[in-house]
Amino acid sequence: MQIETLGVVGAGTMGSGIAQVAALAGLHVIMVDVADAALDRGVTALKGSIERLVAKDKLDAAARDAALTRIETSTDYQRLGAAGLIIEAATESLDLKLRILKQIEAVARPDAIIASNTSSISITTLGAALSDPSRFVGMHFFNPVPLMPLVEIIQGLATGSAAAEAVRELTLRLGKSPISVRNSPGFVVNRILVPMINEAFFLLAEGVAPAEDIDTGMRLGANHPIGPLALADLVGLDVCLSVMDVFFKDFGDPKYRACPLLRELVAAGRLGRKTGRGVYSYD
Ligand code: 3HC
Repeated sequence: MQIETLGVVGAGTMGSGIAQVAALAGLHVIMVDVADAALDRGVTALKGSIERLVAKDKLDAAARDAALTRIETSTDYQRLGAAGLIIEAATESLDLKLRILKQIEAVARPDAIIASNTSSISITTLGAALSDPSRFVGMHFFNPVPLMPLVEIIQGLATGSAAAEAVRELTLRLGKSPISVRNSPGFVVNRILVPMINEAFFLLAEGVAPAEDIDTGMRLGANHPIGPLALADLVGLDVCLSVMDVFFKDFGDPKYRACPLLRELVAAGRLGRKTGRGVYSYD
């Protein structure tokens, strides 16, 4: 099935990034969120990102204008009835995602595929909330979506091969590279990446080195594009914490204990770039 219209639920960092990439690839996009203010923020963010591509001559003005006309926003879930694929990209909360997925299923076309961009919540668990879990699949993008080439395609226990194949094809149309992953906490990338970030917070909390030196260490010593603490600020400290909490609970293994400093910063609202302050401060 060729997907021409994409529904995206959630206009945050990931949702707006997915909407941007899909519109640039020629799809019609319907981005839904609970409030107009959230949609406005999402559209502002994706316009800013597109402008950066234009400024760098990676995109011409005509392609920019065409892409922007393909993005529709709404607070009304009914609009998603036009989509061949609907991706949930809301905050990392099981209860919230379950509620949203049921709302999506209530308005989705019978042949529509439903996907989640969850960072770590079980695709099998989310799928079990739907009356037809065979059409539900994980489609995990990476931040910043316009620049990161990977999409993890996650099959839960009940995911049908047709749904997995359709999102795989779409991933290629978006110019991204898919990897196939069996459902497991954190899938592949976050299972490795987020415990590394968590370890960097332990180093910081123990006073082993200042934040800048921890980050320089991993940039220059392991060739990472940015250090783990700067990456935590990019991804969101709240997202990192919720991923660690899922690992701790699902594996029942103390090696996945979230660093108390990470939890403390999240409690203080220092979530990273999106709140202007995390490990570092941003203007
Ligand atoms: N949109 C468009 N262009 C952007 C952009 C955006 N959102 N962000 C940065 N750019 C462009 C810049 O304009 C710049 O363009 P140029 O090379 O032509 O000058 C280029 O990207 C590099 O940007 P910067 O100079 O500002 O910064 P960096 O050199 O550090 O590159 C980065 C930015 C590509 C994000 C790089 O730091 C990087 O790869 N970081 C690691 C990202 C990563 O690991 N992401 C995965 C996180 S895990 C995840 O998302 C999963 C989730 O479930 C937790």
